[in-house]
Amino acid sequence: MKESKFEFQYQVYDDISELNEKDATLLKEARSITSEAYAPYSNFHVGAIAMLTNGETITGTNQENASFPVGICAERSLLATAASLFPGQPIDTIAVSYHNKNNNTESDHPISPCGMCRQSLQEYEVRVKKPIRLILGGQTGKIIIINSASQLLPFAFTRKN
Ligand code: THU
Repeated sequence: MKESKFEFQYQVYDDISELNEKDATLLKEARSITSEAYAPYSNFHVGAIAMLTNGETITGTNQENASFPVGICAERSLLATAASLFPGQPIDTIAVSYHNKNNNTESDHPISPCGMCRQSLQEYEVRVKKPIRLILGGQTGKIIIINSASQLLPFAFTRKN
């Protein structure tokens, strides 16, 4: 028997003023695009924006449905759009933000992608052979930067399996 450990490094920033200009611009756009979400059931509005390696940007928002499981997260809506408009084009960075419009809530800390989105992000990285950097932050507050989305999904089930 051998004990094993999984760990990865990520960066934590106190607020957006600590980011470089490019990252700050992307996060500001992710914050702003939350207004395009369709989230009448959860009131949790998520916005994502990708900077592709060709300099183009793609956005995605969560799109809910009266039949709840039909709804799609901002991250997967973004990936589907990116793959459709710019097939094969690697993604350099995705910024994800949210606006929780439920009472007595603040959108002041980072959220990280759900399990299903982690699975999609992981396969996108493999498909276009480039890690996707993630910038995660609320409307205000701390920001987390992760170097590769796959780090959020250890022991992933992949197409190799
Ligand atoms: N959601 C996202 O769009 N991305 C995430 O990273 C977490 C959750 C959406 C799904 C649903 O529409 C709402 O947020 C509440 O779960």
